[in-house]
Amino acid sequence: MSFEALKPKVTTILANEKESVKQRLTEVCELLQTSLGYYDWVGFYFANHDQKTLHLEAFAGEPTDHVVIPFGKGICGQVAESNENFVVADVKAQNNYIACSMYVKAEIVIPLFKDGKNIGQIDIDSHTEDPFSSEDERFLEWVNQQVAQIL
Ligand code: SME
Repeated sequence: MSFEALKPKVTTILANEKESVKQRLTEVCELLQTSLGYYDWVGFYFANHDQKTLHLEAFAGEPTDHVVIPFGKGICGQVAESNENFVVADVKAQNNYIACSMYVKAEIVIPLFKDGKNIGQIDIDSHTEDPFSSEDERFLEWVNQQVAQIL
């Protein structure tokens, strides 16, 4: 499914105030994971700035052991500190990487800003080599902006 076709579906899920934020985020993860063939795992982590840790709040795909990640550790932890998108074409080429599954070949992490503060991130793992483009970045930035509005 195209990014443009997914946008109204994301908006509809997030607007459903009958469901908790966690449930809505889980449904967004499931939508992206089932609609985009190379999105094998999709999750939202949120930051605890006092403890300098990221906490997995919602996800779709295989359960992961990495539900808490210290700032600075792995791709996710680096994004918590850099405030910048991190697109990894080949996870094997990364020294500071936390492996979640032996099948993962690539990863993209996009920070989520609320009122200018980096409060979390969306993280996608792919079993496809080098699958992410600037279009994924723009789409995921848009998703995070929509999520920020319901937080
Ligand atoms: N690979 C990530 C850890 C989270 S899992 O992808 C779910 C990282 O290096 O930060």
